[in-house]
Amino acid sequence: MKIDMREFRNVLGQFATGIAIVTAAVDGNRLGATISSFNSVSLDPPLVLFSLASKSLGIAQWKAATALTIFILGEHQADLSNRFARAGADKWAEFGDRATSNGSPWLPGAIASFDCTPFAVYAGGDHEIFVCEVEAFSTAGSMAPPLIFHAGKYRNLKSLEAGKMPPDDNMWLHGW
Ligand SMILES: Cc1cc2nc3c(=O)[nH]c(=O)nc-3n(C[C@H](O)[C@H](O)[C@H](O)COP(=O)(O)O)c2cc1C
Repeated sequence: MKIDMREFRNVLGQFATGIAIVTAAVDGNRLGATISSFNSVSLDPPLVLFSLASKSLGIAQWKAATALTIFILGEHQADLSNRFARAGADKWAEFGDRATSNGSPWLPGAIASFDCTPFAVYAGGDHEIFVCEVEAFSTAGSMAPPLIFHAGKYRNLKSLEAGKMPPDDNMWLHGW
């Protein structure tokens, strides 16, 4: 079956995600990209993943990074998400040069962050899949409201009130 790419993207958009920005410093350059492809992979060792388009201007530098930090955005950070989604733009104008504990560029206001080292990079069609080992993390607390991306739009959770719970075993296995 020949897949219609536009429809494929639309249907993928039904899977609601959070939004993150990944940063790294490589050869004195600050890299940053908005990603919705962040996900957890493994608890032991602690691994996460994200994918970057092979045609990203910075792809060679991303692959050369020896440290990365992934910032999970809060509900008021849609503008920051847009800023780091513009190819080639000066994403860092107006930012100081504060760094995270692993030397990656720091961003303000995130609800959580993960300092990582690269673990593996896999080919994934027109993207590269980066698997990263988490060395340290911080959080603004489990009730800090996240920025959500769904059906091509930023959204906020209407309520942080919990609904039904998944079974305990699943909670543990998948790190929820
Ligand atoms: C909501 C949202 C989610 C995105 N998620 C991804 C992603 O998971 N992977 C990716 O390669 N690009 C993603 N992008 C686009 C990149 O942020 C953008 O292409 C990148 O910053 C360009 O970097 P460059 O200057 O190195 O080309 C996303 C953009 C938006 C607005």
